[in-house]
Amino acid sequence: MTDRPAVLAPSILSADFSKLGDEIRAVEAGGAGVIHIDAMDGHFVPNLTMGPIVAAAARRVTDLPLDCHLMVADPDRWIEPFADAGAETITVHVEAAVHLHRTLTRIREVGCKAGVALNPATPVAAIEPVLEIADLCLVMSVNPGFGGQRFIPSALDKLRTLRGLAEARGLDPILEIDGGVDATNLAEVVAAGAEWIVAGSAVYGSGDPEGAARDLTTRMAGARAGV
Ligand code: DX5
Ligand code: ZN
Repeated sequence: MTDRPAVLAPSILSADFSKLGDEIRAVEAGGAGVIHIDAMDGHFVPNLTMGPIVAAAARRVTDLPLDCHLMVADPDRWIEPFADAGAETITVHVEAAVHLHRTLTRIREVGCKAGVALNPATPVAAIEPVLEIADLCLVMSVNPGFGGQRFIPSALDKLRTLRGLAEARGLDPILEIDGGVDATNLAEVVAAGAEWIVAGSAVYGSGDPEGAARDLTTRMAGARAGV
């Protein structure tokens, strides 16, 4: 297992967009290490959210890495706009990228870390052929499209399987989990090997995003020490 510390990645999907700058500064003050940006196009998932303009706005208010999760049917089209907006990581879905190897290669070519995401019903085997060129693997623990859904526990086994596959090949991608994570299951996801831990409603649904982020990061540090 990697010894990188686990990092909280608040999803601004659940933030108050009328004061987005304050919402981002609050989680940064609470110890967040990454800002998670959920781009949805109304085709790959049944919701329409934010694009590169919002990523660029986030870039202006924080120096934290921007973790851009593209839930879109045509991810290739959005690589350069998100890179130009200041993305650190661009993650595409294996279910959406028709030429996944080319897409991940392109993400690296534009200077970003290349991430690949798996829906709950997609087996880990689907990304085995591209593990060598994946800087990050995102395991969805809800069906993508909305915040505030219930955590799907089979994601934990997928994290462990992925870590095993990567280690067997001498690879060390960042493992990320996304969906339904809160204080009740945080220790489990950390123990299963998740390093970037997305939380939307658990952070922004509380009315005190700074306090919620601080609480989750403190619990993560404790869980990590106990691994
Ligand atoms: C789901 C998104 C997630 C989600 C996280 O489609 O990718 O990032 O909004 O929100 P919670 O933590 O509320 O599940
Ligand atoms: Zn996401």
